[in-house]
Amino acid sequence: MSEQTSFLRKVKHFAKTKLAKRQEQADRSVLISCLSRTNEKKFVTFLSRHGDIKKYFFYESYGMYAVVEYANQESVASLLKDAGIPSVNHESLVPFKSRLLSLRNIGSADSSNQQSGQLCQPQTTIPINELIQKLSREESIDQQVTSLTEAYQLTEENSRLRFLVCSLLKDIAAAYFPECTIKPFGSSVNGFGKLGCDLDMFLDLDSISGRRAKMPKSGLLLDYQLKRANSERAVTQSILSVIGECVDQFGPGCVGVQKILNARCPLVRFAHQASGFQCDLTANNRVAMKSTELLYLYGELDPRVRSLVFTVRCWARAHGITSSIPGAWITNFSLTVMVLFFLQKRSPPIIPTLDHLRDLAGPADKSVIEGNDCTFVSDFSKIQLQSNTETLEQLLCEFFEFYSTFAFNRFSLNIRKGKEQSKPEISPLHIQNPFETSLNVSKNVNATQLERFVALCQESSWLLQQSEMKKPKGATGASTSTPWGLATLLLPSQVAGIKGRKKRRREPASERIKSLLESLKNNNQQKQS
Ligand code: GTP
Ligand code: MG
Repeated sequence: MSEQTSFLRKVKHFAKTKLAKRQEQADRSVLISCLSRTNEKKFVTFLSRHGDIKKYFFYESYGMYAVVEYANQESVASLLKDAGIPSVNHESLVPFKSRLLSLRNIGSADSSNQQSGQLCQPQTTIPINELIQKLSREESIDQQVTSLTEAYQLTEENSRLRFLVCSLLKDIAAAYFPECTIKPFGSSVNGFGKLGCDLDMFLDLDSISGRRAKMPKSGLLLDYQLKRANSERAVTQSILSVIGECVDQFGPGCVGVQKILNARCPLVRFAHQASGFQCDLTANNRVAMKSTELLYLYGELDPRVRSLVFTVRCWARAHGITSSIPGAWITNFSLTVMVLFFLQKRSPPIIPTLDHLRDLAGPADKSVIEGNDCTFVSDFSKIQLQSNTETLEQLLCEFFEFYSTFAFNRFSLNIRKGKEQSKPEISPLHIQNPFETSLNVSKNVNATQLERFVALCQESSWLLQQSEMKKPKGATGASTSTPWGLATLLLPSQVAGIKGRKKRRREPASERIKSLLESLKNNNQQKQS
């Protein structure tokens, strides 16, 4: 077995068990709001009365919180038994008990309480200016890309918190559907999530529907009587409507609940205050789960995939190409598919086409969802990668160059085939949905937004080709450094504001970047003389 095959086999096992492990950890965990200067030792001693604590960490989100994972489920039950309902004078409370608790200090303040604050785990990314500074201190563009990925990716703690919020939500949904699970999908688990990204959740009722423990060959048979509805969609809408109502009325710390039931994919949107996550709860959204698995697979095949996706997502966000508000913008999902398509088009390709992954699938991988073929291989060891040795710097330059000149007016991007194809319909940007192939994932994008994207690709490609941009500026280790390389691409540009540009311009429109280049050139000349 080759080294690569053995690596991929390990990755596969990791992927399969990782989600289940995280879910199980979350079910053994509690979320506690605590005083900002709670004494850590006292905190642990107090909570350990209910059993061994496996892991805990503190974080801040409009107040101090702690996630505490017990070794055993019984400890959680014991802790909850000990917790009381607070008495408040002027308010009425919904007596819904959950694993979101508050720790208070009663009686005279103990001086030891004032001793130490806790080391807080960051749950948001560093501000863009700090990131630009950080990247400017790196030695190469490859290092900048890696450094950006490390600074932005979800931490172990943030990932645990995401699973815990799903588990807390499951406790609410379980009032109606005791066997349900709530699973995270999208960027929380596909490997491309950035700290602070939204939490997409999927209410999974599959363990309830369509299963019979034992089918007798003959004799009497007992069935549940179930309410009938007009369509699957109507069932999804009614379930989400009721769960959404419960989240709104009973869910501790769940605010701003909106039921968006007429969307193509009905959802309940709300903010979970204690974690700081913006949450989208969906049901019956199996195709999105499959897209998540596919993106995860691609991200694990080659480390350059994740790094490039992170960099392009960050670059797009810095220039307002993507936004957290829905609109005519390119979404992160579309952008990720664009990076994957580009990597399939390299020579030799860095990642295989989806059709190839489907051809490698075994019988157990077969998956057809609402008539759509969602089959692809789950055994990573069957995937043979070609040997492409391009650096991240080369790939980044080539990405911008590729999309600077792509004939968006004629072609659709198709990661199934790894080829552009004639557009089946008129829309500025056409990216074929990998599983629901008659759909365009970027249907929302208008011509102006696509033009902004192309103009920025042109500017970024041009910038990266300037020799001044390719090496670090200023002394290594200095506290502030002149932006260079990738850091320059994150600086504000005026290209984003240009509308309806007729002619292709390859040089940057931004005066700020022009003057920055000038100053770099002057610096170099001074040094040489
Ligand atoms: P961010 O939340 O922006 O970090 O990225 P995300 O990948 O989580 O995107 P989003 O929250 O918009 O969507 C969650 C998941 O739903 C995506 O990862 C996809 O799996 C899926 N999804 C989103 N938009 C589309 C779409 O237009 N078509 C399809 N088929 N799936 C989509
Ligand atoms: Mg998301």
